Amino acid sequence: IDHHPFQVNRNGHLEIGGMDTLELAERYGTPLYVYDVSIIRQNARAFVNTFKEMNVKAKVAYASKAFSTIAMLQVAKQENLCLDVISEGELYTALKADFPRERIHMHGNNKSHQEIKMAIENNIGCIVIDNLLDIKLIEEELTRQNKTIDVLLRVTPGIELKTHQYIMTGNEDSKFGFNLQNGQAKEAFNLLNQHDTINLKGLHCHIGSQIFETEGFRVAVDILFDELSNWYSEYDFVPEVLNLGGGFGIRYTKDDDPLPHSDYVRVSVEAVKKHSEALQIPMPEIWIEPGRSIVGNAGITLYTIGAIKNIPGVREYVSVDGGMTDNIRPALYQAKFEAVIANNPNAKVTNEVSIAGKACESGDMLIWDLPVPKLNHGDILAVFSTGAYSYSMASHYNRLPNAAVVFVEDGVDKLVVEREKFEDVVKNDLSYE
Ligand code: LLP
Repeated sequence: IDHHPFQVNRNGHLEIGGMDTLELAERYGTPLYVYDVSIIRQNARAFVNTFKEMNVKAKVAYASKAFSTIAMLQVAKQENLCLDVISEGELYTALKADFPRERIHMHGNNKSHQEIKMAIENNIGCIVIDNLLDIKLIEEELTRQNKTIDVLLRVTPGIELKTHQYIMTGNEDSKFGFNLQNGQAKEAFNLLNQHDTINLKGLHCHIGSQIFETEGFRVAVDILFDELSNWYSEYDFVPEVLNLGGGFGIRYTKDDDPLPHSDYVRVSVEAVKKHSEALQIPMPEIWIEPGRSIVGNAGITLYTIGAIKNIPGVREYVSVDGGMTDNIRPALYQAKFEAVIANNPNAKVTNEVSIAGKACESGDMLIWDLPVPKLNHGDILAVFSTGAYSYSMASHYNRLPNAAVVFVEDGVDKLVVEREKFEDVVKNDLSYE
């Protein structure tokens, strides 16, 4: 608990946002995702305020893939963030949350015609162009709707980062964006520069996720400017916007040592400033797209402990009522999490156990070798840092209904996603009788 932004209350229970986690588990059932909204706001403001302090024009777009629900997008709206969506479903959620259209940016390496049509119909602020098909579909749709739109060109700067390879999206061998090294980015630039209806505002790059150093961002800016300086000298192209993506790391376990949000912003701003001064062009607006670093540490998941299997001399398996269906990260990325017993976080640790999920899959293990006190059936386990990519990656394996989401702020709790019912699980099934 020392590494996580939560306390133990007077009853000796884990507390989140001024609420007793046991009360929440009781009221809403488990598994339960709980967010401390004030932490979400703090994270968002840390980015926004650093840009303000540096007196730089900027946009902070929340990467909604990390956790997209109507309530979350309303919080993002209240915090004056922009929004990054990558699918019709994420855009639909944004529209349902009445998110200001002009603050929505659309991504995606395979945007469908329908997605582009919907984006343009709703006059969203920007589309990030990922490939040539995007350009063709956007052109067609703009003509049909008689409109124009701002775009960024997504490029891959070709940097490799020390992170899990599944979440490495900035390297050259990537499905995302246009490669800088082989001239593909330049080709796309030529199609878009001085286009009638597509306004090319600048470049986008995203170098990876769960990054703990600022060097990668500095190098990415260097690489972008290598290209931009050519486009400037050959075509007088001056970028109005540089979007440097997201990927700022958070703490899952004590071994993670994240930098303050402001460090990433400072390094990126300074790098862009240096290059734009050298080129003698105005400082472009800087956009970032953090997802995990806005919601990750604000969320925890509560589970009820069930069966306990002890294999003497080998291991004790402690099963909980959720697992890979509500948090696939351990199974998919071997991601590590920390947890405490919410009904007694301060109890003396006596044992190491492994927390097993409920799904029929040996790989459904949430935490290996977790130090715990003596456990009992019915104890509540709280897993930390589950705010990003847990709910948003949930599945229905074994026909488990998706868990509920509760927001807590200043001692007030509010259900923001209802627990699915079994009727929901079968609602699209049709009969074959
Ligand atoms: N912008 C772009 C273009 C992205 O591809 C991503 C993440 C982000 C922003 C936000 O990155 P963040 O700040 O959240 O790191 N499911 C994986 C993470 C996948 C990230 C995909 N792209 C996980 O659970 O670790």
